[in-house]
Amino acid sequence: MKAFVAGATGQTGRHIVTELVKRNISVRALVRNLELARQILPSEVELVKGNVLFADTLTEAIADCDVVVCATGAKPSLNALEPYLVDYIGTKNLVNAAKVKNIQHLAIVSSLCVSKLFHPLNLFWLVLFWKKQAEQYLQNSGLTYTIVRPGGLLNHEKQGGLAMSGADTLFEGSIPRTKVAQVTVEALFEDTAKNKLVEIVTKADTPDRPIAELFAKVA
Ligand SMILES: NC(=O)c1ccc[n+]([C@@H]2O[C@H](COP(=O)([O-])OP(=O)(O)OC[C@H]3O[C@@H](n4cnc5c(N)ncnc54)[C@H](OP(=O)(O)O)[C@@H]3O)[C@@H](O)[C@H]2O)c1
Repeated sequence: MKAFVAGATGQTGRHIVTELVKRNISVRALVRNLELARQILPSEVELVKGNVLFADTLTEAIADCDVVVCATGAKPSLNALEPYLVDYIGTKNLVNAAKVKNIQHLAIVSSLCVSKLFHPLNLFWLVLFWKKQAEQYLQNSGLTYTIVRPGGLLNHEKQGGLAMSGADTLFEGSIPRTKVAQVTVEALFEDTAKNKLVEIVTKADTPDRPIAELFAKVA
């Protein structure tokens, strides 16, 4: 397996890359800033400078990879088009390129509450709405996919086990980015994660179960 990771220098993307490397998976990372990538990503990772908005360049960027992970996301900005461009058009471009390249599995990091139009986060230029459009594009693409919708992302560990359930069942909670990375990478290895959309948070009162077991339980 060789994995192409978009958003690899992001706060979650870098953990996804590390998790893949831990499993001895070769990684080709799409990054906008090569210098930053060299500083924060493991040295064995192949770097390719690019941007998910440059649709024509993505098939070449994916090169010989056979799975794709998308951990991109718009950063809060005054540009009202940013979530539309990054979270929808960018992901759509990646899905199209993955189709051309006959990619075996595409996993994306989305978000809880994307189905809630009247959610405060949509005040950030409809970011949840555009993430949902991207999810639907992927689901209708014919590619094998896993959509991971995490709760609020944490840069520190948190006590408690992983709670995983199906679409539009969790509406609050948080989860360490390291855990999101583990779930997203595990999805690439599990038949039971194929063509599934899961929502994840960690909860103090939930016992920790193997990720594979949790995927199997989600319809
Ligand atoms: N924050 C939360 O609590 C939360 C909760 C649920 C879901 N999410 C979602 O989870 C995902 C990961 O979140 P995060 O906080 O880890 O993200 P992040 O640190 O903001 O990283 C986003 C990544 O996307 C990349 N990116 C943005 N525009 C791009 C473009 N046009 N082409 C290529 N790459 C581009 C960024 O590149 P650079 O490194 O070059 O800037 C960065 O690597 C996002 O989709 C986010 O919306 C966040």
